[in-house]
Amino acid sequence: MDVNKIVCADCRETLASFPPDSVDLVITSPPYFQQREYGGGGIGNEKTVEDYINNIVGIFRQCVRVIKKTGSIVFNIGDKYLDGNLLLAPYRFALQVQKENLAKLINELTWVKINPTPKQDPRKLIPATEPFFIFVKSNDYFFNKDAFLEYRDICFNGKKKTKGNDIGKKYYDLIEQSHLSEKQKEMARKELGEVILEARQEKIESFRMKIKGVHALPYGGQGGGRLTQIETKGFTIIKIYGNSMRKDVIESTVETIKENIHPAVYPEFIVQELIKLLTKQNDIVLDPFLGSGTTALAAKRLKRNYIGIEIHREYAEYAERRLYNAGQDAENGSFEFLL
Ligand SMILES: C[S@@+](CC[C@H](N)C(=O)[O-])C[C@H]1O[C@@H](n2cnc3c(N)ncnc32)[C@H](O)[C@@H]1O
Repeated sequence: MDVNKIVCADCRETLASFPPDSVDLVITSPPYFQQREYGGGGIGNEKTVEDYINNIVGIFRQCVRVIKKTGSIVFNIGDKYLDGNLLLAPYRFALQVQKENLAKLINELTWVKINPTPKQDPRKLIPATEPFFIFVKSNDYFFNKDAFLEYRDICFNGKKKTKGNDIGKKYYDLIEQSHLSEKQKEMARKELGEVILEARQEKIESFRMKIKGVHALPYGGQGGGRLTQIETKGFTIIKIYGNSMRKDVIESTVETIKENIHPAVYPEFIVQELIKLLTKQNDIVLDPFLGSGTTALAAKRLKRNYIGIEIHREYAEYAERRLYNAGQDAENGSFEFLL
């Protein structure tokens, strides 16, 4: 199994030839159900969604075999309306993997599309999300949580430095000026001190305090936990976690790369963040449905090794050109044509 290669072949055959426990991360987006005709392979062109799920799960089984015990598998699958009915194809796939106990689903990362493709049906909302399912083979999976969307922390820390020693000071003044009882004031000062410490230690980004008789009631004064706290304690503290929290949501535009001949490219930004989350430098990243080469490009830029499999020669060659243009592997030539 050579690394830093694009193999033009049917992934069902190529994957079967790979040794077990040899890859650190599989990240891929198989053809969606009845979305487009890619030519060759037939995956995505099945007559029923059940046959489609069976085929995709068959490939997933091979992926489980080839990844290491510490490795992970990310599948991005889009949904499909049939006779106006949303099939929930991605979830049928994930449920089948769970039914067969093939791997553990540790996260469903939701891609929120900033510029979704407008659909023509005026009686439906525009679908603007897609899941990236993150599966692992064992509990020993590699997971570098801090590396995921790390740039936000850098921005956040930049902002953090401007917070001086008087963070929350205004609330001490407001507590004193309030009509809270002495006991309530004492409790408010204690909790305020604790939350200021959390902010200074960067456990939270910020906070707000609402004091009875001083601030407007939260949620327009309607019932709920915060209102109860104000009634009983005389105050409530709202913690703001901000960017330092790693959430299972990622926003990105739908890729439109000039002169890209592939109709369904996924965002390099999302792939890059997942590679940082799930691998180390020099690890091996495999995409069995490489398409225009986004996974290989992201892996190479992040100093990981890549292997890409693509059945369609035109796309495999295009992926090769993308890597070449990015200054990669120009001297060696990494293309292997097996069809
Ligand atoms: C959704 S696209 C992947 C796009 C890719 N993520 C990108 O950013 O360009 C799926 C790709 O799988 C390829 N494909 C379909 N069946 C295949 C098979 N059996 N083996 C390898 N590739 C296949 C198609 O030609 C298509 O390019």
